[in-house]
Amino acid sequence: MTAPKRKLFVTTALPYANGSFHIGHIMEYIQADIWVRLQRMRGHEVHFVCADDAHGTPIMLKAESEGITPQQLVARIAAERPQYLNGFHISFDNWHSTDSEENTRLSQDIYRKLRDAGLIERRVIQQFFDPVKAMFLPDRYIKGQCPKCSSPDQNGDNCEVCGAVYAPTDLKNPVSALTGATPELRDSEHFFFKLSDPRCVEFLKGWTQDGRLQPQIANKANEWLSSESGLSDWDISRDAPYFGIPIPDAPGKFFYVWLDAPVGYLASLANYFGKQGIDFESFLADPATRQVHFIGKDIVNFHCLFWPAMMHFTGKPYKVPDNVYVHGFITVSGEKMSKSRGTGISPLRYLEIGMNPEWLRYYIAAKLNANVEDLDFNPDDFIARINSDLVGKYVNIASRCAGFITKRFDGKLATGLPAEGEALLAELRAAKEAVAQYLDGREFSKAIREIMALADRTNEYVNAHAPWELAKKEGAEAELHQVCSVALLAFRTLTTMLAPIMPDTAARVGAFLNCSFASWDDESPLTVINPYTHLMTRADVKIMDKLFDLPEAIAAAAPAKAEKKVEKKAEPAVEPAAEAAHISIDDFGKVDLRIAKIVSAEHVEGAAKLLKLQLDIGEVVDGQPKPRQVFAGIKSAYDPATLVGRLTVMVANLAPRKMKFGMSEGMVLAASDEAGEVPGLFILSPDSGAQPGMRVR
Ligand code: 2FM
Ligand code: ZN
Repeated sequence: MTAPKRKLFVTTALPYANGSFHIGHIMEYIQADIWVRLQRMRGHEVHFVCADDAHGTPIMLKAESEGITPQQLVARIAAERPQYLNGFHISFDNWHSTDSEENTRLSQDIYRKLRDAGLIERRVIQQFFDPVKAMFLPDRYIKGQCPKCSSPDQNGDNCEVCGAVYAPTDLKNPVSALTGATPELRDSEHFFFKLSDPRCVEFLKGWTQDGRLQPQIANKANEWLSSESGLSDWDISRDAPYFGIPIPDAPGKFFYVWLDAPVGYLASLANYFGKQGIDFESFLADPATRQVHFIGKDIVNFHCLFWPAMMHFTGKPYKVPDNVYVHGFITVSGEKMSKSRGTGISPLRYLEIGMNPEWLRYYIAAKLNANVEDLDFNPDDFIARINSDLVGKYVNIASRCAGFITKRFDGKLATGLPAEGEALLAELRAAKEAVAQYLDGREFSKAIREIMALADRTNEYVNAHAPWELAKKEGAEAELHQVCSVALLAFRTLTTMLAPIMPDTAARVGAFLNCSFASWDDESPLTVINPYTHLMTRADVKIMDKLFDLPEAIAAAAPAKAEKKVEKKAEPAVEPAAEAAHISIDDFGKVDLRIAKIVSAEHVEGAAKLLKLQLDIGEVVDGQPKPRQVFAGIKSAYDPATLVGRLTVMVANLAPRKMKFGMSEGMVLAASDEAGEVPGLFILSPDSGAQPGMRVR
């Protein structure tokens, strides 16, 4: 049997509820899901939860810009989640929200306990206030000139030109990125969690350095802890208006989103346990319970400083996390993807074009290890691994042998097996423990290497006995029966090892072999199998063109007919239905149409249909117009020189999209004849008097 039964509480980082999942989310969920499924197969008790991270200024402002409440926005995003989670076979036990009764109760309780422990301090600080919007501005909404090199349009905390790091109050000529107004410095009382308290520092020196963290993370934490300036206290409050949880006894003050976000792990667990009738407090208080968080490398400080310190000083029943497993980012062909811009592989598109979700699960597993390394998605490598490993090595075993068992032996497996076959099966079974250890240690790539080596061994055995030859040979019936039986038993063991990675394939193998993959140790004899049904198709390299090479027409006003279907998938939110179903005025209001001045237009090398446009929609940063770049499929109809200076209409709130030729930050509108009888494309022009940036309603 396996190790003593574990009691596990496992989470992945809570995604912000203001956007759809990107491939980085899916990678993290797949990593955690593989680990969780292994634990379940090994007989451990696992509770795997996540939730929407609902609070904060960006969500509040996004909802406001759409004319809906933050709760409505969060609900809309939450409704999208299942198609991704089910699509990629992510087996969360519960999905909740940080904007919930449980999270309010727990966050306020934790705060009170930290306050009673003397770890909350109130201080008056000066902050920029937008007089037009009547709100304090988070740093990211303040722009200005770098105090060091005077470059315009720099962020509130660092200069992208000279690399200087500063406070927003150091910026020259600061402006509110929300309204363009000059912000005023105002006093406000803030609440701080005293991370600099010697008790916190002492605790964290132990917690971060006792071997529970990956070495790279422990080193980083050590750097923070031993830096000359020491740990800074953490500002955990925000002033109204703010979408968040009210701070007890402090009217108009809310918890900063990052205070209640990790508490959301507990809130989701509490919500789940409420439904299951499990006692939350005694589960957490049980010393056997292990609390494990899977996160990305960008949020280590929150999870390895603030969160464990909060939990430690809050005391029982709360629990200090046992492990924080940090992964790197996902890159595509070596290129970084941007979370906020939503570039890269679209997981939904992946599913919509019919790519097998288990190809991605397998590929990610084949490339992941326990280190904090970035994972590169390389299309050629992806195709090669699916076709050579999964189809060529693994599926090949069953597809070559199952038919003989069905046709020649009534689906019954041989009972007495030859010594060579038994030896092969013993070798595979003996390797299971090592594979389990690799998976448990998140060394997935090592597990895959081992499994594929075992598949190679099995194929060697099949090749050496060539059942297709035996089938033709007089008197070789018994050998044919034995060889195919050994191969299928080996296939069952290989499937057990792959089941955490490819649960759907395992379920289909289970239906075919009449067995279950619920338990890692199950080696009960197979008796009768069902006819083999196709398990997995090869990946065709052309599918990658669909996944990556978004047709040029994506940003075009009027795509040619053949491209239309693809465009529709790419931007469902704004593509009108062919048989225009009615939409509400609210739906229409979601589309932010603006008068745009074409400040430049040029051909794009290598693009048959596109022009690259710079569109002024009145966006001004530091007194400078900041045009949007849009790729429009209007090359066939317009000489770029004739477009410069013209006014037209653009969709300004289309999610920026990375195209082959660069970022496209919107879409221009144009008319075309659906029936194709009137040739040409016609971009729109407003009547004279319209100004760049005016809203079109
Ligand atoms: O970085 C993010 O996407 C955050 N929403 C992660 C929160 S993790 C946890 F603390 F809730
Ligand atoms: Zn600078």
